[in-house]
Amino acid sequence: MATAEPKVALDADTVRSALGDVPYPGLTRDLVSFGMVKHVSVCGTQVKVQLALRTEDASIPDRLGVAIRDRLASMGASLVTVEIVKPQPPTRPLPHSPNVRTPREGVPDPWAEQVRLTSVRDVIAVGAGKGGVGKSTVAVSLALALVRAGFVVGLLDADIYGPSIPILLGIENGSQQVKMTADKHIIPVEIHGLTLISFGFFLGEGSPAIWRGPMVSKAVKQFARGVEWPQLDVLIVDLPPGTGDIPLSLVQAIEVSGAVVVTQPQRLAGVEAQKAGEMFAQLDVPVLGVVENMTGAFGRGGGDIVAKALGVPFLGTVPFDEAVVNEGDSGTPTVLTRSESEFAKSFDSIAHQVVEALGWQLSGSAEHAS
Ligand SMILES: Nc1ncnc2c1ncn2[C@@H]1O[C@H](COP(=O)(O)OP(=O)(O)OP(=O)(O)O)[C@@H](O)[C@H]1O
Ligand SMILES: [Mg+2]
Repeated sequence: MATAEPKVALDADTVRSALGDVPYPGLTRDLVSFGMVKHVSVCGTQVKVQLALRTEDASIPDRLGVAIRDRLASMGASLVTVEIVKPQPPTRPLPHSPNVRTPREGVPDPWAEQVRLTSVRDVIAVGAGKGGVGKSTVAVSLALALVRAGFVVGLLDADIYGPSIPILLGIENGSQQVKMTADKHIIPVEIHGLTLISFGFFLGEGSPAIWRGPMVSKAVKQFARGVEWPQLDVLIVDLPPGTGDIPLSLVQAIEVSGAVVVTQPQRLAGVEAQKAGEMFAQLDVPVLGVVENMTGAFGRGGGDIVAKALGVPFLGTVPFDEAVVNEGDSGTPTVLTRSESEFAKSFDSIAHQVVEALGWQLSGSAEHAS
């Protein structure tokens, strides 16, 4: 039961801010920060709330309805109607993504084919606006920190233009290690306790730099769905920089539970990171938080600013560490080779926050709360 509180005049703003106290069932994040509250209307003490939900769990709408009614009743609402709608694809081009087209009459809905990877509990995309801020390094380090915390983790290198995960993990002949099943599914490789697949294993001589948008989109969709993942707690997806075709195609292909946005301490990187965060929010992918990478050498503070601007948690800083460059180039991940370094330790904390935001409980072993 919600506690009684002084009655305030109900309006859409007070209702929205009250909904900011209602967590998504099983998660620590609230409905508003997940971008799920689509519309609020108030007439006297009657309130109507429209929520955009993509969940397959049929109990969630009921649980949310109870929590919302409880919260709003404590503010004096006499009748609360909760309407659930399916998130719609963007109806206008995303401001920063010229490749997103408005679906037209008679044109197939590009979201209609979205699937849930049945053997994967949560898919987390790691993205950033700017190139070279350390997305791939963060994706690998986060994945290895999660392994260290007891999770079963996969890594999908979806950077079609510059797949770098095989280098960071020291895989030399990945294309020869990858096997296909009889029905043309890709069997991923195992490395350092991770299950991995990279676009880099399939690119051969062809340069995707000259691929046209639709080819990229088709390749990402096939790739995202075509892997025979074992049972995984978490699948981390490393994305290329920017807000273009690849993140959109990924999110249209598979259900993504949340995104981690990587930025650098400088303000300019922050502007781009914020665009990436806004893109995820518009695609109905909750931004789980912002990581500031290379703190120290380039100052500090930019990540926190981006997190505040996006209204999402700041997950922490990763120090600039000169040795990381060589360790990356030589395929000896810092989180494993120098597990007591500040760099490695920063990922323990980030990993915990990420999985907590997804509703995992961290008491000893990895257990999902819902
Ligand atoms: N915290 C850090 N300290 C020092 N060097 C780092 C750190 N994080 C990443 N680097 C280095 O910065 C370079 C870029 O990192 P990385 O390839 O992970 O970036 P990216 O954002 O994935 O780049 P791209 O946009 O090309 O995909 C690499 O040489 C990497 O070793
Ligand atoms: Mg990269």
